[in-house]
Amino acid sequence: MTDFRLVYYSENRIPPERLEAEIEAILGASRRNNGLVGISGALMFNAGFFAQVLEGTQQAIESTFERIQQDRRHGNVQLLDFTSTSTRSFLTWSMAFIGSSEGVAVSLSSIASRSGFDPRNLDGTQLFSRLRDLLSEPG
Ligand SMILES: Cc1cc2nc3c(=O)[nH]c(=O)nc-3n(C[C@H](O)[C@H](O)[C@H](O)COP(=O)(O)O)c2cc1C
Repeated sequence: MTDFRLVYYSENRIPPERLEAEIEAILGASRRNNGLVGISGALMFNAGFFAQVLEGTQQAIESTFERIQQDRRHGNVQLLDFTSTSTRSFLTWSMAFIGSSEGVAVSLSSIASRSGFDPRNLDGTQLFSRLRDLLSEPG
């Protein structure tokens, strides 16, 4: 079946004192749910923004994104791209995380701290490529 890729960014609404716990909760739910419906992808948190790529069947992505859009932990969700694709770039991750918030324990933090970028300046293809490149760079 043809895979689709969805790319969006959004503004964080989580207060700083709850950020670490809420991001852990988001990743926990994402990895569990995405694994069940065959979604792979990557989530970045940086400078008050989330950016996310979801890969999977159209149906799985639509129902997942429907939930994500209603989540009050972020807002102003901006859909940048939703297209069919013949290749998955995040196949081994039910949800990879790239983060740079203070106190958020992430294995790729050194990469993320170098990556400070504002997703508002990127289109869907650029944002997707950026996340893919960050994950493939050696830490
Ligand atoms: C930035 C952001 C990204 C999220 N990404 C996903 C995701 O990839 N998959 C997912 O199932 N839920 C994701 N969520 C969480 C959903 O909004 C929702 O809370 C969750 O799917 C509910 O799962 P549960 O019913 O199993 O608790 C995300 C939430 C936020 C704020």
